[in-house]
Amino acid sequence: MTDLSLRNIRKAYADLEVLHGINLDIMAGEFIVFVGPSGCGKSTLLRCIAGLETITSGDLVIGGSRMNTVAPSKRGISMVFQSYALYPHMTVYENMSFGLRIAGVSKAEIDDRVKKAAAILQLDKYLTRLPKALSGGQRQRVAIGRAIVRDPKVFLFDEPLSNLDAALRVATRIEIAKLKQNMPDVTMIYVTHDQVEAMTLADRIVVFKDGKIEQVGTPIDLYKRPANLFVAQFIGSPAMNILQGKVVRKTGELVHLVLDCGLSLGVSAKGSAVSVGERISIGIRPENTQVVASGHAGPLMSGRIDLVENLGEVQLLYVDLGSATNKYIIKAPGEKAYTRTDTVHFTAQAGDIHVFDAAGLCVTGQIVETSPLEI
Ligand SMILES: Nc1ncnc2c1ncn2[C@@H]1O[C@H](COP(=O)(O)OP(=O)(O)OP(=O)(O)O)[C@@H](O)[C@H]1O
Ligand SMILES: [Mg+2]
Repeated sequence: MTDLSLRNIRKAYADLEVLHGINLDIMAGEFIVFVGPSGCGKSTLLRCIAGLETITSGDLVIGGSRMNTVAPSKRGISMVFQSYALYPHMTVYENMSFGLRIAGVSKAEIDDRVKKAAAILQLDKYLTRLPKALSGGQRQRVAIGRAIVRDPKVFLFDEPLSNLDAALRVATRIEIAKLKQNMPDVTMIYVTHDQVEAMTLADRIVVFKDGKIEQVGTPIDLYKRPANLFVAQFIGSPAMNILQGKVVRKTGELVHLVLDCGLSLGVSAKGSAVSVGERISIGIRPENTQVVASGHAGPLMSGRIDLVENLGEVQLLYVDLGSATNKYIIKAPGEKAYTRTDTVHFTAQAGDIHVFDAAGLCVTGQIVETSPLEI
């Protein structure tokens, strides 16, 4: 069982710094997923951990030992890349055993490890095939197998499924989830742009932006309690709706907000430092929004439908809120018919409304009063 500790890791290419002091503790056996926009430094950090890039400053501690200058092959790490790059002239067996042969491992030991890995990945039937006679998903499994036979303590995956078509992605994602169950002692770090992969595979997700960590937490934590506007809009699809407004009054522990779309809300101000006149944003997820009748009590917004996308099980209503600059997306059940230009009224439960201060940080208070307020 191997844990990792990243302490103030910085990485610069010449004078361009791309990782700005990463601090992260990963527990032994944990499945960590890195997400973040393109170019935020996910691959660079993975490559620093693997030893494929030098670390400019900071400490990389793996299993209690500082590893900054230890050779990649001595770190107990295997890495699987997006492009699986199998040797085309070698069979599956030869591809999986190649690294071990080079390392001088005995034939019997190689045979044992390749067969075990093939069994885990259900590749037993394909060991004598060449890569060209395999599907994309099977090839990616061979690439994973090649990493497994090295018996790593830490497994790094850099978008391993992004070259696969939708159905294969799902199938291979399930293989990886099973792989984790079969190898509970192995610590895994997995980079993906896929929300479903991140939410379903991760014990904890790390959200990066511009070479820094924005938030670390369980998938549900990040979904339910995003620390800031960036995470709120990054996790979840379609993204959380954000409405602008301002603080108009504070009475005791209640902060009164008026949104640009006209809605008034009262927020418990406990622990929050918003001041009167401050611009704030509130966030509501499309799936936490309910279409209701016009007389509904509670926070009530309305707008005109611009576009309906019916996905079968659900439909996405793109709503124009009128005078406010904001558009709003509602995820509604699939069965009811909505038409473009219809006016819809909608609401959300108090607990599903997130409030962010002018700096974009989530205000700790909770919506406590949602009916229109006297102002
Ligand atoms: N060898 C290099 N020399 C200079 N800059 C580099 C080098 N490699 C990466 N970068 C820069 O470092 C930043 C982080 O790149 P990185 O590949 O880690 O991003 P990423 O988060 O993996 O993005 P993606 O999701 O597109 O794979 C980018 O701005 C990139 O241009
Ligand atoms: Mg990358």
